[in-house]
Amino acid sequence: MRFAKLVALSTILLCAATTSGYAATGAERHVAKGVKCEICHGPDKANPQLPTIDNCKTCHDIKALVEKTKNIKPTNPHVSPHYQDQLDCVNCHYMHEEPVNFCDQCHTFGFKVP
Ligand code: HEC
Ligand code: HEC
Ligand code: HEC
Ligand code: HEC
Repeated sequence: MRFAKLVALSTILLCAATTSGYAATGAERHVAKGVKCEICHGPDKANPQLPTIDNCKTCHDIKALVEKTKNIKPTNPHVSPHYQDQLDCVNCHYMHEEPVNFCDQCHTFGFKVP
C-alpha cells in the first residue's frame, strides 16, 4: 500500500519537476539549486528513503542556523526546551506540501515556515 503510493507520487513529482519552471515546494527549490531527488531519498527510486535531520545536516550547519534565527519572535524555531536543536527538520519543512508550524500544536508562535 505504502509502496504503491510512493511509486504513484514519484511519477507525479517527476512530471511536476520537469515541466514547471516555477519552484513552488521546498523540494522543487532544492532541485533548482542542484539538490537532486537522490540526495534526499537515496539512489533506489523504487524505494525512496525519507530524509532525517542527519541528511539535512550534511548541508545545513545547525549551530549556524540556530544563530541566524535567534532573534525570531516570539522564540527561535530552531531550538526549544523540549527538543533543543534536534527536532527533525521535516516536522516543519515539509518538502512536497505546505510547510507546517509544528510548535503551534501547543503554542501560538505564528511562525511562517519556508
Ligand atoms: C545537498 C545539500 C542540501 C541538503 C541535503 C539539504 N539542503 Fe536545504 N538547502 C540547500 C541549498 C543549496 C539551499 C539554498 C540556499 C540559498 O539559496 O541560499 C537550501 C535551502 C533550504 C531552506 C531555505 C528555504 C527554501 O526552502 O528555499 C530550507 C528551509 C532548507 N533548505 C531545509 C532543508 C531540509 C529540511 C533538509 C533535509 C530534509 C535540507 N534542506 C537538505 C542545500 C541542501
Ligand atoms: C519548528 C519548526 C521548524 C523546524 C523543526 C525547523 N525549522 Fe527551519 N525554519 C523555521 C522557520 C519558522 C523559519 C523561518 C525563520 C524566519 O522567519 O526567518 C525557518 C527557516 C529555515 C531556513 C532559512 C534560514 C535563513 O534565513 O536563511 C533554513 C535553511 C532552515 N530553516 C533549515 C532547517 C533545518 C536544517 C532544520 C532541522 C535541523 C530546521 N530548519 C528545522 C521553522 C523550523
Ligand atoms: C530537500 C530534500 C528533498 C528533495 C530534494 C526531494 N524530496 Fe521528496 N521528500 C522529502 C521529504 C522531507 C518528504 C516527506 C513528505 C514531505 O515533506 O512532503 C518527501 C516525500 C517524498 C515522496 C513520498 C514519500 C511518502 O512516504 O509519502 C516521494 C515519492 C518523493 N518525496 C519523491 C521525490 C522526488 C521524485 C524528488 C525530486 C524531484 C524529491 N522527492 C526531492 C524531501 C525531499
Ligand atoms: C506537545 C505540545 C508542545 C509542543 C509541540 C511544543 N511545546 Fe513548547 N511547551 C509546551 C508546554 C506544555 C510548555 C510549558 C508550559 C508553558 O510555559 O507554556 C512549553 C514551553 C515552551 C517554552 C518555554 C516557555 C515559553 O512559552 O516561552 C518554549 C521556549 C517552548 N515551549 C518552545 C517550543 C518550540 C520552539 C516548539 C516547536 C519546536 C515547541 N515549544 C513545541 C508544549 C509544547
